[in-house]
Amino acid sequence: IRTVGVLTSGGDAPGMNAAIRAVVRTALSKGLKVRGIRRGYHGLLREEIIDLSARDVSDTIQRGGTFLQTARCQAMRTEEGQQKAAAICKKYGIDGLVVIGGDGSFAGAQKLANLGVNTIGIPGTIDLDIGCTDYTIGFDTAVNTAMEAIDKVRDTSTSHERCSIIEVMGRDAGYLALWCGIANGAEHILMPEEHDFNEQEIIDDIMANKKRGKKNYIIINAEGIGDSINMAKRIEEATGIETRATILGHMQRGGSPTCKDRVYASIMGAMAVDLLCQGKTNRVVGYKDGKYVDFDIDEALSMKKTISQYQYNVAKTLAL
Ligand code: F6P
Repeated sequence: IRTVGVLTSGGDAPGMNAAIRAVVRTALSKGLKVRGIRRGYHGLLREEIIDLSARDVSDTIQRGGTFLQTARCQAMRTEEGQQKAAAICKKYGIDGLVVIGGDGSFAGAQKLANLGVNTIGIPGTIDLDIGCTDYTIGFDTAVNTAMEAIDKVRDTSTSHERCSIIEVMGRDAGYLALWCGIANGAEHILMPEEHDFNEQEIIDDIMANKKRGKKNYIIINAEGIGDSINMAKRIEEATGIETRATILGHMQRGGSPTCKDRVYASIMGAMAVDLLCQGKTNRVVGYKDGKYVDFDIDEALSMKKTISQYQYNVAKTLAL
C-alpha cells in the first residue's frame, strides 16, 4: 500500500472526525500518502479528492459531524458507478480505501474490493444497527444527547402533569429508543422490533399510572412507529391528560463526540490502516464481546443483530 484514501458515507455521526484523524496520522506514521475524499462516494465519483497532512486533522477530534462531509449516493449502487469509482481510485493512486459509514457504505466498499481496490470499513452510525459489531461510532454521543434532551422534556412534563411522547431516530432499529427508555425511565418504549404495540394498552396504562400517583408519563417512540403528533392528540382525547409530542430529529446526530466515541473511533481508524498494511482487503473493523475484531465484508453484511428482549423487559419492569 502506498496511498490510503478515506471517506465518510451515509448519515454523519459524532466521532467520524476522530476516525479520519486516526486513519490520516496512522498512515502518515507508516510513510504512506493520504488522500481525503469529500462527500462520500458521491464526491469520489466527482473526483473531489484532496491530500491530507497531519495538520489538516488538527483540532478535529472534538468536533461533531465530518469535516470531509458526507452524502448518500445512488450511483454507487450501479455497476457503472462502481466501475467508475474503482477507476478514479486507480487514477489517484489510492490502493487502500477506508470507508466510514453503515451497511450501505460497506456494500460499496465490497464492490470496490472486487474491482481491485483494497477496502476496509469502519462502522459509523448513530443507529447501532450493524450486525458485526456491538459498537458503532456516534451511538454513544447520540444516545447521551437524546437522554439529556428527554430529561429536559421530563422537567416540563412533570411541572404540567402531562404525557410526553418523544420521538428518537434509529431508522429501522430501536437501540436509541431502548437505551433512552431505560436511561430516562420511560413508561413505554415503542420500537420497530416490538410489533405488538397497542395504543389502547398505553391509554389504559396512563390511567392506571395516574391512579398510582404518577406525575407524568414518558413514551419514547422510535421514528417510524406511528405518527407522534397524531398519537399525542388521540392519547389526550382518550385520557383527558394533556399530551405533547417532541421530535428530537437531527440534533441527535450533532455535537461534540463523547470520550467513548473519540477513543473507539481512534482505535478503529488505526486498526483499519494496520489491516491495509497487512495486505488485508474487503474487511470491516468491529467491536464484539469486549474485543476489537475484523470481519470479511461479505460475512459482516450477512450478520443480523437482534435487540435484547431481556433489556426490553427490564425497561418495562422498571416503569412500575
Ligand atoms: O442513519 C442515521 C439516521 O439519522 C437515521 O436514524 C435516520 O432515519 C436517518 O439517518 C435520517 O436521514 P436523513 O439525515 O437523510 O434525513
